[in-house]
Amino acid sequence: MVKAAVLGAAGGIGQPLSLLLKASPLIDELALYDVVNTPGVAADLSHIASPAVTTGYLPKDDGLQKTLEGCDIVVIPAGLPRKPGMTRDELFTKNAGIVAALITGVAKWCPKAYVLVISNPVNSTVPIAAEVLKAHNVFDARKLFGVTTLDVVRASTFTAELTGEKDPRKLTIPVVGGHSGDTIVPLLSLATPSVSIPDDKIEALIKRIQFGGDEVVKAKDGAGSATLSMAYAGYRFAEAVLKADKGETGIVEPSFVYLPGVPGGDEILKAVGGLEYFAVPIELGPGGVVKATNPLGKASDAEKKLLEVAIAGLKGNISKGVEFAQASSAKL
Ligand code: 2OP
Repeated sequence: MVKAAVLGAAGGIGQPLSLLLKASPLIDELALYDVVNTPGVAADLSHIASPAVTTGYLPKDDGLQKTLEGCDIVVIPAGLPRKPGMTRDELFTKNAGIVAALITGVAKWCPKAYVLVISNPVNSTVPIAAEVLKAHNVFDARKLFGVTTLDVVRASTFTAELTGEKDPRKLTIPVVGGHSGDTIVPLLSLATPSVSIPDDKIEALIKRIQFGGDEVVKAKDGAGSATLSMAYAGYRFAEAVLKADKGETGIVEPSFVYLPGVPGGDEILKAVGGLEYFAVPIELGPGGVVKATNPLGKASDAEKKLLEVAIAGLKGNISKGVEFAQASSAKL
């Protein structure tokens, strides 16, 4: 029996993500939580002929507790999206408290669940989640993931557009660092199969991968940020975690994790100047992270320069999350 929960299930990412999870044969029970509209979303999804029994909860009547009790995997897209001109960091004041409150629920009612954080700014909300779980003595770094899969998806899609590859899924490009602007570092030199991008196009390609989210924010013109592609990416990562949990081997996906708590993390921690959180390709298995792999040493000189910029940006994002959680922990 696998019970999955989506926190923020009635929102722009939450609805298509819940749809994908409902359609998945890997899930037996799907619990949806949001501050509005979840009973309607759950009723709608419940007509789909798939195994997952779907329920929707609101904050009243202990809705968060009912959503989370017995959960094996919790996916969190809750929070506000960006408007044109905003950075993900500017969402911090709105979303930090939302994530802290939801993770407090996870700590109380399903402390052993896999937790997948989508709410932005991921570079700060994952440290918040870790601090809240630590404060409740239930933190297992192997089960906490910042979802950076959309950066990986964008890297394959945009690179395939340039190389002429018709199926972007055939390209595997490690994307490391964080999930915002120049903290996102695609390691195109390590693509498999290898790709050859003309010198006059590579800089624009890297920028497009780093700032791909802005393309969508601009095109939506005030109506929010990426929802459908983010839902796809969140689902892809959740599916990877669940398949690995069932014993499928060889599953590797990049994710933003707490390095000191995962196997292989210490070596990477040294390579990134002591940063405790970093996205790297993660080998998944039963129990979550089996090994964080370190592609950084093999990066090209130009990519190493991008890594320096990413590390500098991440430092501030991470400490902002840690400090927020520590200052508010007494209230949670
Ligand atoms: C993005 O990358 C929403 O953060 C998400 O577009």
